[in-house]
Amino acid sequence: MVVKNVLHMKAGDGVNSYANNSLLQETAILKAKSILKETIRSMFIKNSPTYLPTSFRIVDLGCSSGPNALLPISYIIDTIYQICEEENVTPDRISEFQVFLNDFLGNDFNSLFNFIPNFYKKLENAKRESFSRCFISVVPD
Ligand SMILES: C[S@@+](CC[C@H](N)C(=O)[O-])C[C@H]1O[C@@H](n2cnc3c(N)ncnc32)[C@H](O)[C@@H]1O
Repeated sequence: MVVKNVLHMKAGDGVNSYANNSLLQETAILKAKSILKETIRSMFIKNSPTYLPTSFRIVDLGCSSGPNALLPISYIIDTIYQICEEENVTPDRISEFQVFLNDFLGNDFNSLFNFIPNFYKKLENAKRESFSRCFISVVPD
């Protein structure tokens, strides 16, 4: 038996599921928001204040199957737009966001897919032009 093929968080959206028992992790993600922003900012500044990549690749190593998986992705996209605004850089050059959600093979990726429409809707509501150019794929290992 290959352990990683059977090891995964509790699937589904029941009372005992990871999706409904990951508040602590959500809190940790929220606390890391400022670090995330500074890291992204340093990626800009390191090159040039007006440097903006045309394509972003975002990888979540260990995404699991709860709503938390797309939370840092939203923050990253929001932060990129926020920095563009602060630095007076037009985000029009961004052609796409490629998102790779990784976890063990046994992870409940199907439950994760259910969060994607809401994620796109949020991007749309925030009038992010990029929402239609954000491509999400799952990468089991
Ligand atoms: C505590 S959960 C965190 C999930 C999510 N990122 C969050 O913040 O709620 C950790 C996840 O990492 C995954 N994981 C641990 N080691 C891994 C590995 N070597 N490759 C892929 N996924 C891994 C587990 O399967 C689990 O779903």
